[in-house]
Amino acid sequence: MLRPVVRTRVRTRFDDQGAIVADLPHASGDTPAEGAPANSGPDMTRKQFLTAATIGVGGVMGALIAVPVAGMALAPVFGGNDFEAVKIGDVDEFEDGKFIKVVLTPGADQPDAYVRKKVAFVRKNASKTADKLALKGQEDFTVVSNTCMHLGCPVQSSNAGFVCPCHGGSYDADGKRVGGPPVRPLDRYVWEQRGTELWATGLYALKSDGSKAKHRDPGQHTDGVEGLLYPLQP
Ligand code: FES
Repeated sequence: MLRPVVRTRVRTRFDDQGAIVADLPHASGDTPAEGAPANSGPDMTRKQFLTAATIGVGGVMGALIAVPVAGMALAPVFGGNDFEAVKIGDVDEFEDGKFIKVVLTPGADQPDAYVRKKVAFVRKNASKTADKLALKGQEDFTVVSNTCMHLGCPVQSSNAGFVCPCHGGSYDADGKRVGGPPVRPLDRYVWEQRGTELWATGLYALKSDGSKAKHRDPGQHTDGVEGLLYPLQP
């Protein structure tokens, strides 16, 4: 059983000539002895110590939780676009109205390039209205990622658009979701013509109306309340 600790201090009194006249014992927290000065020193009681320690430990634990969460939430706002431009192919390789599968290899001259390979489907559009999800200035070619927007399996092109072999997700010819568990349209590459070559210079996500959204992982929404929770996984 804990018993309160009573600390005793000695206060020395002096007469007018500076000689010691008495040593008065004084218990901390008690009413000062008559004639003794009030206890205004820096001594801390057990209660004060425990209160300060609790606040300190609580503050440290709160910071340990809050700092990573805040960093995760703000990273997409301040994060830069680290997409490495990559050649898609020669412009005249592609045909009007027909998707051609290409392998993109950013940093092809580097030894670890094989781990960064991506697959895209590229279609040349004879009409600017052929791609209903195209951004302004991006109507001439449609460059669609093959990553399914459910869990990331590679989609395959079909007569009607794209299908995913993993869980039956399906997309129309512009990559817009039409069935199954995917949560948004297929991602798109920003393309750019350099002389006779077509290059990919960025990757972005789409909302269901075709407007551009910041790139995010498969399974993460770009619309509605779930889209507002990004980067948190609902
Ligand atoms: S990963 Fe494509 S439908 Fe599940």
